[in-house]
Amino acid sequence: MHLGTTLTQFLIEEQRRVQGATGDFTGLLNDVVTAIKMISNGVNHGGLLGVLGAAGSENVQGEEQKKMDVISNEIFLKRNEWAGHLAAMASEEMDEPYQIPPGNPRGKYLLLFDPLDGSSNMDVNVSVGSIFSILRCPGDKNVDGPTPVEAFLQPGVKQVCAGYAIYGPSTMLVLTTGHGVNGFTLDPNVGEFVLTHENMRIPEDTKEFAINMSNYRFWEAPVRRYVDECIQGKEGPRGKDFNMRWVASMVAEVHRILTRGGVFMYPMDSKLKEKGGKLRLMYEANPMSFIVEQAGGASSTGHSRILEIQPTHIHQRVPVILGSKNEVERIVAYHKEAA
Ligand code: AHG
Ligand code: MN
Ligand code: MN
Ligand code: MN
Repeated sequence: MHLGTTLTQFLIEEQRRVQGATGDFTGLLNDVVTAIKMISNGVNHGGLLGVLGAAGSENVQGEEQKKMDVISNEIFLKRNEWAGHLAAMASEEMDEPYQIPPGNPRGKYLLLFDPLDGSSNMDVNVSVGSIFSILRCPGDKNVDGPTPVEAFLQPGVKQVCAGYAIYGPSTMLVLTTGHGVNGFTLDPNVGEFVLTHENMRIPEDTKEFAINMSNYRFWEAPVRRYVDECIQGKEGPRGKDFNMRWVASMVAEVHRILTRGGVFMYPMDSKLKEKGGKLRLMYEANPMSFIVEQAGGASSTGHSRILEIQPTHIHQRVPVILGSKNEVERIVAYHKEAA
């Protein structure tokens, strides 16, 4: 039995440190955590619950939705629409922002999420996750009418909180409110997350990179140069051997980097030009960049800091290069040299 700090205790103790805190934020996180526990339960039971396979629909991203994409999205909505903490929600799986149903109280926060990340891994029983981001809703929460989409278009530096859940060998929740990064492990028998990874830090140097190598021929010159140098190993300009990983679940890659360092790239390439990149700024890149920076790492498109991008669209996509600081800085320098 692990008698460490529970997540509930951690959140309440954090709340006590903020003068004038109303408990609104703690209440919101509690509901997000309940959603995550329910998704974890669905993911863990997999085929037993009949949640594997395709849903037979396509999302706004043009991706085939998995059953579990749709179920996880529904869980996030249902757990968070009733309590009065939110003005609206936005999801990778929905075309438009989700409005709080009439009759429910409205709150001052906005919740954005990727309900199931790495969902192509669902059917093959490999780690998946959920990613979320919390913003303050500008303006007066008592104003009638729907929350406009513009309310969401805030740069990542404005995030109040970001987190992800990883449904792996154990279910973990990793969280930042802008004061470092903490990791909690779900005790499935008790139904509580317990603080197991206090103040997670990303080593500044690494010998491990993560990228989908099958896109090599589409990459831009600076990314090719970086990877070429890595795979030349000891004999090359880096003078050391590198290792490579690609899970195809961003949560799993970021979690590995938070645990032992590394660099993760889904860079710009010639077939992504029109879309702007592969990963979604609001549901993936911003929350993960906030966490990575809070753990001492760095995150960039190759040209600019992700957290400073002024979004123009809720489903906007961006190139992502994140992880160990010195490595990300090197890749950014290669982009500058090539410009
Ligand atoms: P999602 O399942 O939420 O659509 O995200 C998948 C993302 C990300 O998690 C992962 O890093 C990447 O797509 C994998 O892309 P490839 O299949 O191109 O490797
Ligand atoms: Mn998807
Ligand atoms: Mn995703
Ligand atoms: Mn997803």
